Amino acid sequence: MDPQHPDKRDPKQYIDLGHSKAENHLKTQVALYEKRKQYDASTTNVLRAFFWTNLFGFFYHYLKSRFGRKAPYQFYPANGDNGIYPLITGQDTVAIALLSDWATDTVESDQVAYVVSTYDPDYTIHLGDVYFVGTPREVADNFTDANASWHYGRHGSLALAGNHEMYSNGKAYFNELLPAMRIRKGDEVATQQAGFFCLENEHWRIIGLDTGYTSTNRPFLEVIFKPDCSFRDEQLAWLRNVVRLGDPTDTRGIILLSHHPYFSSFRDDHPVIGRQLREIMGEAARPVLWFWGHEHRLLFYDQFGFPDGIRAWGRCVGHGGMPVEISEPNRGNLGQLRLYDRRVRERIRGMPVGYNGFALLKLQGTSLLVDYIDQNNVVVVSEEWTVDRQTGGLAVQTLSVRDGIKRYEPVANKDA
Ligand SMILES: [Fe+2]
Ligand SMILES: [Fe+2]
Repeated sequence: MDPQHPDKRDPKQYIDLGHSKAENHLKTQVALYEKRKQYDASTTNVLRAFFWTNLFGFFYHYLKSRFGRKAPYQFYPANGDNGIYPLITGQDTVAIALLSDWATDTVESDQVAYVVSTYDPDYTIHLGDVYFVGTPREVADNFTDANASWHYGRHGSLALAGNHEMYSNGKAYFNELLPAMRIRKGDEVATQQAGFFCLENEHWRIIGLDTGYTSTNRPFLEVIFKPDCSFRDEQLAWLRNVVRLGDPTDTRGIILLSHHPYFSSFRDDHPVIGRQLREIMGEAARPVLWFWGHEHRLLFYDQFGFPDGIRAWGRCVGHGGMPVEISEPNRGNLGQLRLYDRRVRERIRGMPVGYNGFALLKLQGTSLLVDYIDQNNVVVVSEEWTVDRQTGGLAVQTLSVRDGIKRYEPVANKDA
C-alpha cells in the first residue's frame, strides 16, 4: 500500500498478474483486506479481517463465479435502442478518448483520467478490464462512486467488456456499469444496452465490438470449448442487419474497437474475429483501423490480416492503468510491429514499467487526427488518417514520434 494514497490500490498488486480466475479473485479479496486493515489495525481485527476477507471471501466469490452462470447476454433491440448513436454535429471537431485496461483504481489511473479531463472530450470509451474481477465494488471505485475518477464525456461514455469483467460472470458489467454509461441520442440520453455499439457521422463509423463475453467459459467446458473471444450470433446479426457492415455503397471510414487483439507480436492472436467480419463484409471488406487493449502496452502495427480475415491497422492502447509492460516482442514472425513505447517510467518489484496513457481521436470531416497521450500529458505519437469517400479506403500519415519510442523495421511477412 502506498502510504501517501491509502485509499488507492498499489500497482505492486498488479505486476505479473496472471489470467486465472482464482488468482484474480484472490487479489480482489487481498485488496479489500488491505483497505479494511488500514481503518482498524488492532491485531484481533486484522486477523479476523484476514480470514473473513481473504480466505472466506476468496472461496465464496471464486466458487460462486466459477460454477455460477454468466449474466444473460444483452443485445439489440433493447428498450427501443438499436445501438447506433449519431455523433454530435454542429462543431468542427468531435473528440473521443479511448482508454483500455484502465480501471485499476490506482494513482496512475487517476492521473490518466485527469489528463483526459483536461481535453474535455465529447465521448470517452473504456475498452474493457475492470480489475481484478469486475465486482460491483470495483465498478463503483472506478466509475460510479462520488470520488471515482472515470471522466464522462460531454456527450457520453461507453464501455466494452474485457476478460476481467467476465471473471465474475459479467454481472456487475451488465447490471452496474452499463446503466452508468450514458450517451446522447438526439435530444434524449440513452443508457448503454449491450456490450457493443456503433457511433457514426457523415464520414466515419466507430464500431465497438464485444469479445469479452466469449473470453471465458465454465469449468470443464473450457477444456472442450476453448474460449476464443468470437462474436456471438446476436452481435453478428446486428452487424449484418442493423449496422449493415456488408453494404458496399457505404464508403465511410471504419474504425473498430475491441478488448482483445485481432493479432499480436506478443501474445495470442484472435483470427476468428477477423474471419467473422470478413464473412459479413464480403465485397465491402476493406482495411480498417482497429483499436484494442488487453495487452498492457502501446503498440502500432502495419496493415495486416490473416488470409481468410479482414485486414487492419492495429493500435494496441492497453496501457490505460495497469503497469505497462515493455518486454521484447517474442512473436516477431508476423513482422508487422512498427512502433512500441518502451520508455521506462519506474521499476516496480524490480520490473521496468512504462508510461500509462490513452488515445485521443479528433474527427474533422474526412480527416481523423489521433494523438497518443501519456499520463504526463506528453503526446507520444501523433498520426492523421483520411478516408477516401469514393472507395472508403483509409490512408495514414505519421505526424510525430517522440524520442525514445522504439521503431521496428519491416521484415518479410510470410502470413500476409
Ligand atoms: Fe488487461
Ligand atoms: Fe484483458
